[in-house]
Amino acid sequence: MSKLKIGVLISGRGSNLQALIDACAAPDFPAEIALVLSNKADAFGLERASTAGIATAVVSHRDYPGDKPAFEAAMDVRLREAGVELVCLAGFMRLLSPWFVGRWQDALINIHPSLLPSFKGLDTHERALATGVRFHGCTVHHVRPAMDDGPIIAQAAVPVLPGDDAHRLADRVLEAEHKLYPHAVRLIAEGRARVDGDLVRIDGPVPELATVLNPPL
Ligand code: GRF
Repeated sequence: MSKLKIGVLISGRGSNLQALIDACAAPDFPAEIALVLSNKADAFGLERASTAGIATAVVSHRDYPGDKPAFEAAMDVRLREAGVELVCLAGFMRLLSPWFVGRWQDALINIHPSLLPSFKGLDTHERALATGVRFHGCTVHHVRPAMDDGPIIAQAAVPVLPGDDAHRLADRVLEAEHKLYPHAVRLIAEGRARVDGDLVRIDGPVPELATVLNPPL
């Protein structure tokens, strides 16, 4: 079986990267990580990648002050050199330009800690609590030039529980993220998630994870 080569872009702790590393370790998982690329040299995720024997690269935006095109071109070169076919943003904290997004059209995905299109941007857990939603969650979607926008591949819902604060809620959502991201990558690698205009169509049965979870009684 030939595996889909993925590149993971990170900026920090890399817990979603770890979930992808762990998923890719299973012999029947249809993707493999060809490169972990960080824009920060001290990102803990780089250590996770090295521990797993995965190639890493650092392309620091600070080396390209005021020159986003050059920063993105440098990342693009590293990804292409590594043979990457699908780019997975996993806590990558730079907004990508329409040029980069277009270069990786339908081959660039992101995980966001909310049920999009609600709560785009930062501090999603605080805002979910302040809004009083009963369900929160996470989304894996194709990237489009607008922030946290693009065809939705998979979502997992997480109940908001009495007594939740942003940390407790974030922990519960993160646990769901770690299951959802490998699930979404698998759907793409198996060729079962097709972009159709603004939507993603899923061929074949979708596992339980992608359905809304029942709140506790
Ligand atoms: C996650 O919550 C992800 O959804 C968001 O950034 C965070 C990254 O966490 N885009 P980690 O670096 O994967 O631990």
